[in-house]
Amino acid sequence: MATDVKKLVEQMTLEEKASLCGGDDFWHTKAVERLGIPKFMMSDGPHGLRKQDMEADHLGVNDSIKAVCFPAACATASSFDTEMIGKMGEAIGDECLAEDLSIVLGPAVNIKRSPLCGRNFEYFSEDPYLAGKMAAAYINGVQSRHVGTSIKHFALNNQEYFRMSNSSEASERTMREIYFPAFEIAVRESQPKTVMCSYNKINGTYASDNEWLLTKVLRDDWGYEGFVMTDWGAVDDRVQGIRAGLELEMPGNTASNDAKIVEAVKNGELDEKLVDRSCERILKVVYDYFDNKKEGVVFDRDADHEKAVAIAAECGVLLENDGILPLDASKKIVYIGEYAEAPRYQGGGSSHINSSKVTSALDSAKAKGRNVEYVKGFPAQKDEPIDKAELDKAIAAAKGADVVVIFAGLPDVIESEGYDRANMNMPEAQNELIEAVAAVNSNTVVVLHNGSPVETPWADDVAAILEMYLGGQGVGEATDQLLYGEKNPSGHLAETFPMRVQDNPSYLNFNTDPVKCYYNEGVYVGYRYYDKKMMPVRWAFGHGLSYTTFELSNLRVSSDKMTDDSKITVCVDVKNTGSVTGKEVVQLYVGDLNGTFDRPVKELKGFAKVEVAPGETKTVEMEICSRALSYFEEAIGDWFAPSGKYELLVGNSSDNITLRTEIEFETKKIRPMRCDGSLTVGEMMANPATAPIVAEMMKKAQENSPFAGADENEAIGNEMMEAMIRFMPIKSLKSFGMVNDEQMEQLLGAVSAALGRK
Ligand code: BGC
Repeated sequence: MATDVKKLVEQMTLEEKASLCGGDDFWHTKAVERLGIPKFMMSDGPHGLRKQDMEADHLGVNDSIKAVCFPAACATASSFDTEMIGKMGEAIGDECLAEDLSIVLGPAVNIKRSPLCGRNFEYFSEDPYLAGKMAAAYINGVQSRHVGTSIKHFALNNQEYFRMSNSSEASERTMREIYFPAFEIAVRESQPKTVMCSYNKINGTYASDNEWLLTKVLRDDWGYEGFVMTDWGAVDDRVQGIRAGLELEMPGNTASNDAKIVEAVKNGELDEKLVDRSCERILKVVYDYFDNKKEGVVFDRDADHEKAVAIAAECGVLLENDGILPLDASKKIVYIGEYAEAPRYQGGGSSHINSSKVTSALDSAKAKGRNVEYVKGFPAQKDEPIDKAELDKAIAAAKGADVVVIFAGLPDVIESEGYDRANMNMPEAQNELIEAVAAVNSNTVVVLHNGSPVETPWADDVAAILEMYLGGQGVGEATDQLLYGEKNPSGHLAETFPMRVQDNPSYLNFNTDPVKCYYNEGVYVGYRYYDKKMMPVRWAFGHGLSYTTFELSNLRVSSDKMTDDSKITVCVDVKNTGSVTGKEVVQLYVGDLNGTFDRPVKELKGFAKVEVAPGETKTVEMEICSRALSYFEEAIGDWFAPSGKYELLVGNSSDNITLRTEIEFETKKIRPMRCDGSLTVGEMMANPATAPIVAEMMKKAQENSPFAGADENEAIGNEMMEAMIRFMPIKSLKSFGMVNDEQMEQLLGAVSAALGRK
């Protein structure tokens, strides 16, 4: 039976309640022994457990227990496989049960605004819909075990530079469309037990003090039911935090803040009911764990290692392939680069896992008796000038081999929590070696181990590129399976690889100001920007190759009409036209065809991954509702899509759209309009309620116009006049003698009536 938490809170003293709102130490909440309330333990995450048993320190200097390191979010997002990440969540949930952990601190869903953010490896995507869907599936997986999650870092924590104090300055539209939906989708579809608020300020107010963020948006708009905790040390004004909807302060050391809560209640600054509310929210989650805890679950590290291998194989993205992959095992193959024997498979900082075992591609090749020679070439963990002797050895080995596989990537020191990257470069020694080797052997393959995009000046000179990201402790075996075709690559990029870092839309405002970070690019993040600018990129969002080929066809919709409350099912046939079984990622984008100002060309609103055998055809189904067509209209504080035409675009990459159809949308929502002389003719024309008035008015105005009667060949014809007066406020029509005072009044009266105003 579920514990009655309300009753428990009624029995608590004010001091006990205040102290429950602060952690006991780095990883525990406080117990209230008098009432039998237990403390509970949490641990980082998100892609495995970082349970620190002894002396806790959140930077991970003290080792945590041996655990299984699953692929990081940069990799799992590329799988576009919600079922798979759900299973990964279940495995992590079971591990938590075995270790008596009530909460795993993840997933981390911040949007990859810039490729330079040091923590991008922990985040899913530049696209909020994809990030939200992956997060919700992960959370549902973990929480199916009654173990909680902590979706983080809420919100607009998109850089490490001054992350604890900087203010992220963004418009509400930008937040609602780009930086919030990953949290929103997760809240609506999976109710994470906890939300971790970020360190930074948002438009001047710390996330931990921010009532608009933590109550209006999170709870009132999205219906959040769990509790909010601080990131480690993110508290600002503890009393304001309670008011704002921040329930738990972490990590420990909270005695003086607990006392401030008590004092504020006693002197009438804080309503005790708000403290009760916080305690109830915390205890609901505590008891959801203890009341439902399944006993006797064991942490089977070997079985979970195998799961980690299988997941990593789903995440690898084949970026380029001239046909050299899969490798022919009978050929003479040389592996170059220390990552072949010591892969980089996870990032640094709070998500760092003490892995139970790590397999390298070289270990796997040896275990399978493959004909592979190995040359170190360059070190995995250092960014230092090339060692001439190693380079010569690599070139000599490359000359004598049928195929060369270079294992390249970023050393730990380049990308980590706590600081951002200075540029998008790979270590120069690696670039030099790749170029030199490719020059002597045209069958050069590059395998990448990195947590975020890199510049690849040699991309056109090599035969194939396989992006393995930070693929977890099983990455070596997974790489082997993909290279030799035991598994068919099926990952697609969850982020754009720009040609150069300077092309990124945030470039001019990233890490330029320690106090404020201006999100001036607005909603144009990632492909939304590159698409709009028609800018060439190295690899587009959604791109990924396979060892087979697919044909998408027969795009059909359950209806080509949509209203505010209806949904449309979109079906597409996927045929495997090649000779091996493979998985395709079908992507559905939506574009507004109504000339609405300031919208991306298209936005991802659905995806489906499907396995198809050679010659076989399968149908995938996706669903959209009016939200998929909408932008956030600040004037009404709501999502809005004007009535009109929308296109549905389907392909296997944002730059490979092969199917297209249109739907007609009709809304009852009215975008508010000013109703005074500053209203322009164009705005009236764009609103169906006022368009007929403007048509009538135009007719009259043309008759009265000094240019009346002019034909198209003359200085100002009718078409030109229409175009010119589009931006003309109706008050100016009077100045030009097109309407008189009385007509002007009638006009405003008619507009008011059409807009339903008195
Ligand atoms: C990180 C969080 C992490 C916490 C606990 C913070 O520094 O930002 O992501 O969960 O530490 O280790």
